[in-house]
Amino acid sequence: MGIKISVAGKGGVGKTTLAGTLARLFAKDKKYNVLAIDTDPALNLFSALGISKEEFEKIEAISEQSKLIEERAGKPGGVFKVNPKVSDIPEKFSITGPDGLKLIKIGTIDKAGTGCLCPSNAFIRALLFHLVLNPNDVVVIDMEAGIEHLGRGVAQNVDIMLIVVEPGSRSFQLAKKIQKLGNDLGVKKIYVVANKIGGAEEEKFVKEASSEMGLELLGIMPLDRKLVEADLKGIAPIDYIPDSKPMQAVKEIKSKILNIVAN
Ligand SMILES: Nc1ncnc2c1ncn2[C@@H]1O[C@H](COP(=O)(O)OP(=O)(O)OP(=O)(O)O)[C@@H](O)[C@H]1O
Ligand SMILES: [Mg+2]
Repeated sequence: MGIKISVAGKGGVGKTTLAGTLARLFAKDKKYNVLAIDTDPALNLFSALGISKEEFEKIEAISEQSKLIEERAGKPGGVFKVNPKVSDIPEKFSITGPDGLKLIKIGTIDKAGTGCLCPSNAFIRALLFHLVLNPNDVVVIDMEAGIEHLGRGVAQNVDIMLIVVEPGSRSFQLAKKIQKLGNDLGVKKIYVVANKIGGAEEEKFVKEASSEMGLELLGIMPLDRKLVEADLKGIAPIDYIPDSKPMQAVKEIKSKILNIVAN
């Protein structure tokens, strides 16, 4: 029943680049209904998808819909519904981007402790849980950096969690923590994707670190300054450098994901 993918990792490793590109590649196939979800408060997934700022500003963030959340899920601190109605949300709060993909902004999620059961979290959890309904739906969730939000239900109910790492021990240590949290949340398929790989030595490092730490490496994206250029210009990487090595690597990651879910 569809594919739900979340992209997590340390700050600045390339989560948005990977999430945006994956979403575009699935959408280009024309056989998937792609929904990209931005749960990072910085809300910058739109540009990696190739959606203009003007378009992006036409929709509001779900987390800012306090009245709607209150109506559906209850008041903070009060009795709230665990299963609020969310089925109409993607329709009402999404914009359409290139290749027919859709984007929803979630925005800032309550940070009141891990596993917080406040209404807005219940609402967002319900939204993510009910999203994939059709076999051809693909949902790609760009997560906030770090791990604080992972207990808040946003990483739950995904089929595949991709943790982006870069050549460096800090991103690997965090990846290990994310993997553990993902496992605790019941995510069955968790992989790392190495990004910003600047040569053979760095490639060797990420391969060794992955196997030593029990992390399964799904793909390797080379370092490419043109990605920074694309970011600065607000152009989607897949439009700016479609035939580059990092974009080729994401194409391979997408094929692997299709294989994983088929088996
Ligand atoms: N393979 C790469 N080579 C060079 N630069 C890259 C590569 N991948 C991403 N970048 C650049 O690194 C910066 C951070 O990337 P991105 O925004 O995708 O990371 P992020 O993990 O989403 O960051 P944040 O934690 O702030 O949300 C951007 O300027 C992006 O263009
Ligand atoms: Mg990001």
